[in-house]
Amino acid sequence: MLQLTGAGKRFGPKTLFEDANWLITPDERTGLVGGNGTGKSTLLKVLAGLEQLDYGELQRTKGMTLGYLPQDGLALSGRTIFEECLSVFHATQEMEREMETRSAQLAELPSDGEEYAVVAKRFSQIDELLRAHDGYALDAQVGAVLGGLGFTKEDWPRHTEEFSGGWQMRIALAKLLLQKPSLLLLDEPTNHLDLETRNWLEDYLRNYPQAFILISHDRYFLDVTVNKTVEIWNKRVHFYSGGYEKYLQQKTERRAQLEAAYKNQRRRSRCRAASRNWKRLSALRFQRRNPRSTSASRSRQSLAVR
Ligand SMILES: Nc1ncnc2c1ncn2[C@@H]1O[C@H](COP(=O)(O)OP(=O)(O)O)[C@@H](O)[C@H]1O
Ligand SMILES: [Mg+2]
Repeated sequence: MLQLTGAGKRFGPKTLFEDANWLITPDERTGLVGGNGTGKSTLLKVLAGLEQLDYGELQRTKGMTLGYLPQDGLALSGRTIFEECLSVFHATQEMEREMETRSAQLAELPSDGEEYAVVAKRFSQIDELLRAHDGYALDAQVGAVLGGLGFTKEDWPRHTEEFSGGWQMRIALAKLLLQKPSLLLLDEPTNHLDLETRNWLEDYLRNYPQAFILISHDRYFLDVTVNKTVEIWNKRVHFYSGGYEKYLQQKTERRAQLEAAYKNQRRRSRCRAASRNWKRLSALRFQRRNPRSTSASRSRQSLAVR
């Protein structure tokens, strides 16, 4: 669906990640983790196509849809919350408007005419499309998502600019959840959420029918929503199966294995050095005990050369 190959990104002298390879599949449910400033947000922006790679490639399957929630910097304005959310269904709304026009035409036309048959055919096509897209229940869908994210019915007619940054983030998140893109990219969506809303989002993502990648510092949230963890560490992208707890376990195991291998290597090189020293010492002792044998062998050697 989305593939990162041999990818690297730096800002000035600072390398964030290098040689990153990641095949993002339609069933991706991934937590992206790493220390502060390791490049998580930048990597998500790269996947969203909002930030360029310095080298490597990002390939996208045709027809896939992406939804990206930034960590901050949202400034919605000009519409009510409800209109803002409904705007994601512009194609469906267009169909609704056409339904109204066609319905009015059908009422005017004689029902045995040729034109009536053409309009009636188009009418039933749109009707089918609307049913397939749950188009007759747009208001209910918007209401359910807004309710889940903590907005009351009294908030619906209020303008988006009346809301603070944290609540604007909730509106943007509501729009993405309504859009249901084939890949959702969420940068710290839980930052501004209270416990109740976090629980609602947890459930929503658990049942989300498409792929998502999310950055979060909330270990519990990650544990119940994702089945894979990707970590940026030491300028590399590392893959772990499972949620946060499993990732920590695997990381501890991998570190222990690396440390054991390192200790083994040091032990072996210490042994080799000790054995070399022992041989040197034995040779010296032998020379000290048999000074003649050395000079005799030396003179034999020099005679042989002559
Ligand atoms: N547009 C930019 N220009 C220069 N430096 C940037 C830019 N965006 C991020 N950085 C730097 O890149 C590093 C990683 O940032 P970011 O991707 O936000 O990390 P994270 O999300 O893991 O905390 C930070 O040191 C940050 O200051
Ligand atoms: Mg970040």
